[in-house]
Amino acid sequence: MIHSVTRFAGRTALVTGASRGIGLAVAQRLVAEGARVVVTGRKPGRLTEAVALLGGPDRAVGVAGDTADDEHRAAAVTRAVEAFGGLDLLVNSAGINPVFGPLVDLDLTAARTTVEANVVAALSWVQHAHRAWLGEHGGAVVNLSSIGAFAPSAGLGAYSASKLMLVHLTRTLALELGPGVRVNAVAPALVKTRFSTAIYDGREAEATADYPLGRLGTPEDVAAAVAFLLSADASWITGQTLLLDGGLTLR
Ligand SMILES: NC(=O)c1ccc[n+]([C@@H]2O[C@H](COP(=O)([O-])OP(=O)(O)OC[C@H]3O[C@@H](n4cnc5c(N)ncnc54)[C@H](OP(=O)(O)O)[C@@H]3O)[C@@H](O)[C@H]2O)c1
Repeated sequence: MIHSVTRFAGRTALVTGASRGIGLAVAQRLVAEGARVVVTGRKPGRLTEAVALLGGPDRAVGVAGDTADDEHRAAAVTRAVEAFGGLDLLVNSAGINPVFGPLVDLDLTAARTTVEANVVAALSWVQHAHRAWLGEHGGAVVNLSSIGAFAPSAGLGAYSASKLMLVHLTRTLALELGPGVRVNAVAPALVKTRFSTAIYDGREAEATADYPLGRLGTPEDVAAAVAFLLSADASWITGQTLLLDGGLTLR
């Protein structure tokens, strides 16, 4: 039997950090399956291009701002409800890694900035969305963690710790917000985006060698898993963090 895939018809999603990379792929997948989306990112020009790619104003609205800015978060959530009449799905994809280097020498301001953008902001997005819509109407949230949450990587200490905080935040929110709101996370290994270019550029064969599935991830791989967790297909799943790693952690 062939099913037409419209799992998100009539749903509105807000995807943070969605002018490119994983966030944009998630927004594209949700729109392809019937959703309307609000996408965020700091640079307005890139966001305008993303909105056009997503099918224009009937399907997508861009709200420019920094995920660490609370006024921006409040405005984007308000805009979603105004533009599309609700806010059923939230994807916390915006994330930063401003420093690379050993923890023992880490600039503590950078550590705080990382936790603020990757953890505190993600929590705040959930709070805003819950007050505006999810609390009364229900819905689903997916947070973008990282394999770094489970497998420490030298030089990425603050980033990895923030992503593990996000795993625990996901679990606690799932406990507190059920049964109306499901909260899950995905933890990808290396996905080919601008964010990770420095890690694989010029050495992709080497970077791929440890992956049993023989390749690095794509934004579309992550988008498919996020869409599953947001959909009714995952209606008995909450508080989980799904590893998306091409089998890497089996080694
Ligand atoms: N790529 C990987 O290998 C990988 C692996 C595991 C987890 N992740 C996680 O996946 C998420 C998305 O990463 P990605 O690879 O898709 O990155 P990306 O390709 O660099 O895209 C990042 C997106 O977020 C926006 N953004 C960046 N900083 C922001 C901020 N402070 N406030 C609001 N928007 C911001 C960017 O637009 P502007 O620059 O215009 O703001 C862009 O739209 C992150 O949370 C990352 O930690 C990535």
